Amino acid sequence: MNDRHMKLVEAACAARLNSHSPYSGFRVGAALLGRSGTVYPGTNVENASLGLSICAERSAVCRAVADGESVFEAIAICADGAEPTPPCGACRQFLLEFGRDLKVLIAGEKATAGPVLEYSIGELIPHAFETYVDHEAPGAGDGDGKS
Ligand code: THU
Repeated sequence: MNDRHMKLVEAACAARLNSHSPYSGFRVGAALLGRSGTVYPGTNVENASLGLSICAERSAVCRAVADGESVFEAIAICADGAEPTPPCGACRQFLLEFGRDLKVLIAGEKATAGPVLEYSIGELIPHAFETYVDHEAPGAGDGDGKS
């Protein structure tokens, strides 16, 4: 792991401390490194209506895109617990949107003093849903709009 990636893991662990997770008590932080060099932190934000909760990884992506950045080099994830917690399937799909080569660094709460797993997002979600552009739109066929 290079110096920038070590700093990214530290940033994810710092973001974890801002987690709003009164329901699960499970804090997760993320830090997304844009091509510009900017680091976008994210954390999980839970809601009393539990299904509305958002994961740390997706909150980091939304923050970056809202800031105008959409080309990314790496994301670090840091969750409670000594062992690294890999991202959920929804976050894998969400991250894949921005390219298969995105590096994913997964750390436990000891940051780089503990184990850090390294993958590409493409490795973490093989056979992902990537596009529907070849789909024939309703109305393009016999005109009844039914498929
Ligand atoms: N969580 C994340 O932030 N990222 C993941 O990839 C998996 C789960 C959060 C969502 C919820 O607030 C808590 O962890 C427990 O599921």
